[in-house]
Amino acid sequence: MSNVMIVNHPLILHKLSILRDKNTPCMEFRSLIGEIAMLLTYEATRDLPLDDVEIETPICTTRTKHLAGKKLAIVPILRAGLGMVDGILQMIPSARVGHIGLYRDPNTLEPVEYYCKLPTDINEREVLVVDPMLATGGSAIDAITQIKKRGPKEIKFMCTIAAPEGLRALSEAHPDVAIYCAALDEKLNDHGYIVPGLGDAGDRIFGTK
Ligand code: PRP
Ligand code: URA
Repeated sequence: MSNVMIVNHPLILHKLSILRDKNTPCMEFRSLIGEIAMLLTYEATRDLPLDDVEIETPICTTRTKHLAGKKLAIVPILRAGLGMVDGILQMIPSARVGHIGLYRDPNTLEPVEYYCKLPTDINEREVLVVDPMLATGGSAIDAITQIKKRGPKEIKFMCTIAAPEGLRALSEAHPDVAIYCAALDEKLNDHGYIVPGLGDAGDRIFGTK
């Protein structure tokens, strides 16, 4: 799959080990999700266009680089995607934030949409759709299908952990979407949870279990 990048940087791998540990408390889990999102952003924004600018250092005038003002939007998939937003905004403070609410029906594992609020000028923006978990891929596929109806310039998807099943399904459904993840795990279990994974990301971020 040429559109997939597994960002296995040592800092990410170290943070992932703490994240996966079932004894990691909610507060630390939440900050790690944000920190890993920040590190993934470094890779997902590698192709941002630059302009030349002239500036004066305390020593002399020089030509240097400046982001070319590309418009970005971050769209977390509720709930767990919310945990990634602050980390990304620390890197791209001018980005706009949309929200798409989906949950997996626990019996069918099919995504059920309950909320969608996107920036009105999303057709002028590159969109970064974010969710810590890509399991069957149903939620990400559905969220991206909804966002595409509003005609954004480009969509990238960023997650913490992906299952091979989800990665394959998302690449097949949206081959134009580049996917960035911190880890590619082994498989899904019978309940659609990623193995070894980290459990239920939403519950661990928000302390609901
Ligand atoms: C989790 C996760 C993804 C989805 C992944 O959300 O945050 O959105 O499952 O699974 P999929 O790839 O099989 O669709 P969940 O449905 O548990 O909702 P929540 O964030 O509200 O807890
Ligand atoms: N959603 C989660 O939060 N965790 C999984 O392992 C799969 C889906």
